[in-house]
Amino acid sequence: MGSFTKNQLMLISLAVLSSGFLVLWYNEYMELQPQRLYIALQWIGNGGLERDNSLMGENSSSNADSSLPPNTKATAAPTIMQTKMSLRSTSEKVVSKNQSNKKKKYLIFLCDKRRLCGGWGDRQRGIVTVYLMSLAYNRTFGMEMTSPCDIKGFMQPNQTNWIIPPQELVNRTTKIIDAMGVGPPRLEYNGTNYEDVIKIRTNSDGSMHISKMYPKQMPKYVRGVSRAIVFRRVWKHLMKPTQHIIEHLKQMSGNVDLNNRTNQLVCAHLRIGKSKTLPNDLPRINISSIEKLWTFLHSFENSSKIFIATDNEEVRVSAKKTFGPRYFDTGGKIVHIDRQRGSKEACLGFETAIIDQIILSSCDVLVISPSNFSVRAAMLKELLKSIYVFSGKNVEPFIPKRRRRSVMNYQKLTLDLGHKLLVVYVL
Ligand SMILES: *[C@@H]1O[C@H](CO)[C@@H](O)[C@H](O)[C@H]1NC(C)=O
Ligand SMILES: *[C@@H]1O[C@H](CO)[C@@H](O)[C@H](O)[C@H]1NC(C)=O
Ligand SMILES: *[C@@H]1O[C@H](CO)[C@@H](O)[C@H](O)[C@H]1NC(C)=O
Ligand SMILES: *[C@@H]1O[C@H](CO)[C@@H](O)[C@H](O)[C@H]1NC(C)=O
Ligand SMILES: *[C@@H]1O[C@H](CO)[C@@H](O)[C@H](O)[C@H]1NC(C)=O
Ligand SMILES: *[C@@H]1O[C@H](CO)[C@@H](O)[C@H](O)[C@H]1NC(C)=O
Ligand SMILES: *[C@@H]1O[C@H](CO)[C@@H](O)[C@H](O)[C@H]1NC(C)=O
Ligand SMILES: *[C@@H]1O[C@H](CO)[C@@H](O)[C@H](O)[C@H]1NC(C)=O
Ligand SMILES: *[C@@H]1O[C@H](CO)[C@@H](O)[C@H](O)[C@H]1NC(C)=O
Ligand SMILES: *[C@@H]1O[C@H](CO)[C@@H](O)[C@H](O)[C@H]1NC(C)=O
Repeated sequence: MGSFTKNQLMLISLAVLSSGFLVLWYNEYMELQPQRLYIALQWIGNGGLERDNSLMGENSSSNADSSLPPNTKATAAPTIMQTKMSLRSTSEKVVSKNQSNKKKKYLIFLCDKRRLCGGWGDRQRGIVTVYLMSLAYNRTFGMEMTSPCDIKGFMQPNQTNWIIPPQELVNRTTKIIDAMGVGPPRLEYNGTNYEDVIKIRTNSDGSMHISKMYPKQMPKYVRGVSRAIVFRRVWKHLMKPTQHIIEHLKQMSGNVDLNNRTNQLVCAHLRIGKSKTLPNDLPRINISSIEKLWTFLHSFENSSKIFIATDNEEVRVSAKKTFGPRYFDTGGKIVHIDRQRGSKEACLGFETAIIDQIILSSCDVLVISPSNFSVRAAMLKELLKSIYVFSGKNVEPFIPKRRRRSVMNYQKLTLDLGHKLLVVYVL
């Protein structure tokens, strides 16, 4: 094997790990990074197909709950269990619940404390992707996000119920696919993805690929629209804030009724990265450049309210000084939900991130940072105008980068392994 390049070696490992023919696709932001790919493939391939009998993985009181009938299951947000919907459940009404559960197959977005699953922006991409995959593969969509704490305290199902009672999954064949950092795995190959319950960790945005490949399975509202609109519509279809979050929103937004306000709302997300508050993060924007942002924000009507979502305490202090009573923020704990997931405050930080994004997505003017969290906030904004990006130099109009890679536009690599030919498609 000495004559192989690093890439070829990686492809060979891939051949060993998979059973021969494999197509991968990458989300638009990813470069092919052999090491990350290799790690992910260890999980996609047979080596990583662990059986997960604990199901909920963490504390999440699955044992206590499993003895209760579905309707009495207590959760952080009791209202959740009353929301019964799902396009599917209507067609299943004919079958008794008991029988349908035996036939039902599941595709579950997984984010637990065992492995990293990215910040909120990464998670949002993964959720939308796994939901569309569940439609493509005709599986019941579910979500298990228990890190840094259970998402059910903050978000609840809107039009599709993604809370699967743990007892429905007991004794079903289960597999976990870890696809963090690579595109969403394709499940349709024979003999490899037959399990009743497939749980996926992913942070990729495969929405456009999936909707192109499975147009018939996609809901009407995602047909023929941009990536941003697909994201927004699917997200709103799946999620609505819990009462707890709605209450906090009211408190924190300084009595600004987000849906009925008299003043213009001008907002910015400013991700500074590595700092005293966030020692584990990467450096993002040099904090000495924030005056430029303040100058830009001053150019709007001086009756407008100013909201800043930031990962840095100094930014808040400076904004308060600059804009006085016009300024507000969530005042919440600043943590990166994935990089500091072990810390005590991570759960509070998780909540702050969710509230920040809800406010950002409802602003009249939005200045984003180069971060996935910001980009998703922009995508959730109804009006895709008045969006700017500030990366430390100048504030510029935001034009989403489109490195379009169609499913038809792939790179085909063939490897002769002596006894068989391996073909790999990389998008
Ligand atoms: C797990 O349960 C223990 C005790 O029941 C509790 O102290 C801890 O906070 C829980 N952890 C999570 C992540 O919910
Ligand atoms: C299935 O139905 C039987 C009786 O109809 C009941 O005893 C059993 O608990 C049900 N199982 C599930 C998983 O709901
Ligand atoms: C989808 O799955 C259900 C079982 O969950 C099955 O009854 C139905 O026929 C499937 N539909 C298609 C189009 O395969
Ligand atoms: C799961 O399987 C075990 C062992 O076969 C059995 O004891 C248990 O009752 C099963 N649980 C359910 C809920 O079917
Ligand atoms: C899967 O199996 C079916 C029936 O055995 C066959 O028709 C189909 O071509 C197979 N698909 C792939 C991708 O191998
Ligand atoms: C929930 O879905 C309905 C219907 O699509 C939509 O009108 C509503 O805005 C959604 N809720 C949220 C909070 O997005
Ligand atoms: C919106 O605000 C105006 C005055 O600020 C008030 O008269 C109106 O009732 C509010 N509408 C809703 C739907 O809350
Ligand atoms: C931030 O900017 C200041 C002034 O422009 C400069 O002195 C400093 O080195 C910069 N810091 C970093 C980390 O780039
Ligand atoms: C801001 O308010 C002051 C009065 O407080 C007013 O003189 C000034 O014209 C306003 N500027 C803008 C840009 O609206
Ligand atoms: C978004 O996330 C991906 C993967 O985590 C990363 O490669 C990319 O640089 C991020 N984009 C931005 C704008 O930070």
